Amino acid sequence: MTETKFNILVLGGGGREHALCWKIAGSPHCARLFCAPGNGGTAAVAENIHLDEKDHDAVVAFCRENTIALVVIGPEAPLVDGLADTLQAHEIAAFGPGAAAAQLEGSKGFTKDLCAEANIPTAAYGRFTAPEPAHDYLNEQALPIVIKADGLAAGKGVIICDTMDAAHEAIDYIFDGAFGAAGAELVIEEFMTGEEASFFVLCDGRHALPLATAQDHKRVGDADTGPNTGGMGAYSPASIMTPELVAQTMDKIIRPTLDTMAARGTPYRGVLYAGLMLTTEGPKLVEYNCRFGDPEAQVLMMRLESDLIPALMASARGDLSGIDLTWSQDPALTVVMAAQGYPGNYDKGTRILLDAVDESDELVVFHAGTQDASDGAFTAQGGRVLNITARGKTVAQAQAEAYAGCEKIDWPEGFYRKDIGWREIEREMNQGEK
Ligand code: AMP
Ligand code: GLY
Repeated sequence: MTETKFNILVLGGGGREHALCWKIAGSPHCARLFCAPGNGGTAAVAENIHLDEKDHDAVVAFCRENTIALVVIGPEAPLVDGLADTLQAHEIAAFGPGAAAAQLEGSKGFTKDLCAEANIPTAAYGRFTAPEPAHDYLNEQALPIVIKADGLAAGKGVIICDTMDAAHEAIDYIFDGAFGAAGAELVIEEFMTGEEASFFVLCDGRHALPLATAQDHKRVGDADTGPNTGGMGAYSPASIMTPELVAQTMDKIIRPTLDTMAARGTPYRGVLYAGLMLTTEGPKLVEYNCRFGDPEAQVLMMRLESDLIPALMASARGDLSGIDLTWSQDPALTVVMAAQGYPGNYDKGTRILLDAVDESDELVVFHAGTQDASDGAFTAQGGRVLNITARGKTVAQAQAEAYAGCEKIDWPEGFYRKDIGWREIEREMNQGEK
């Protein structure tokens, strides 16, 4: 890419978007950077603006008025809602798939059917639009079993059941409207065992460029206990994804997916996030997301050495040839600080002081749900509020740096897991003993 500078708009207000803005703002190709709605952290690297992402005309008008060359759509909802299609139709480059391709996240049944068609390894399943046949199918299945609302449910639509009674209840719960329209249809899935890993590829409709691996910590409590959350911490790379497993994932999961989407006339552009279960039979697909993970994006951005803007532009324009990304060999780890009570009820508006934290190239506090209190403090405005992100020579070192950062944060109403990265640190210790 020539030394041109672009105005860029990032949509979203989480830790993922702060990490993307932080990386984009550091690029020589970035002129003005806007973030809508952004948060207390993005305000330091971008101009936070109010823009209703559901109002496509308003987004187009803003892009026209501000000569936006690229819109980076962070979360899944506007992608499933077709915002990338609208922008591309107005000849504004948008990073992220159109509505038809975003169905890979928007409908679990859609993805399961695609897996069946393209022979992609995943859990056996049944897809239902009414309770009766779902209950009948369930009666023939083994335990444990997984019941999933078909549509977007903010990560809450998956119920893992150890008993038949619980599974029958889960079917009724979903069809009774617990997840609204997202539960008009459901998927019943075989339970898979193994370790999970997140794998990210950048796509241009035909080709996929592997980005990096990561591992998330979904449960709220130490030692992976308690309810599921959006993610309480992550690290990258996940060494359990060996080069051989990456090759298998590309051949058996990613490429057949992209080929099938392209053959159907709905090519996939953007970042494709595969949630994988590493089973004794090889990697199997748990789910697709049509966006970067949160908090996985935070550790990916901390490790990415190349400029992100040319890669995002190339994906949006449909030609990744010539893009080659380099990653730091040093692992990165992020610890999520959340408001006490999360993922249940929690208070908003509590005060956070970050003055004592020494941020550097190796330690960054990404904001997920904060607002600037304009007196040097921030207020907490969400469940997951801060992502203390560090890079180190080992995961153990990155973990120690991240936790040292957490301890300097003055926020009595916040909490965090104390064991982020434990699986990898155990592997590092075993490696050291060999
Ligand atoms: P999802 O929202 O589809 O990623 O599901 C959330 C979590 O539920 C996953 O990260 C897994 O831990 C678990 N899960 C989903 N589907 C299955 C499955 N078929 N077998 C085992 N665990 C699953
Ligand atoms: N970290 C899980 C997600 O972004 O869906």
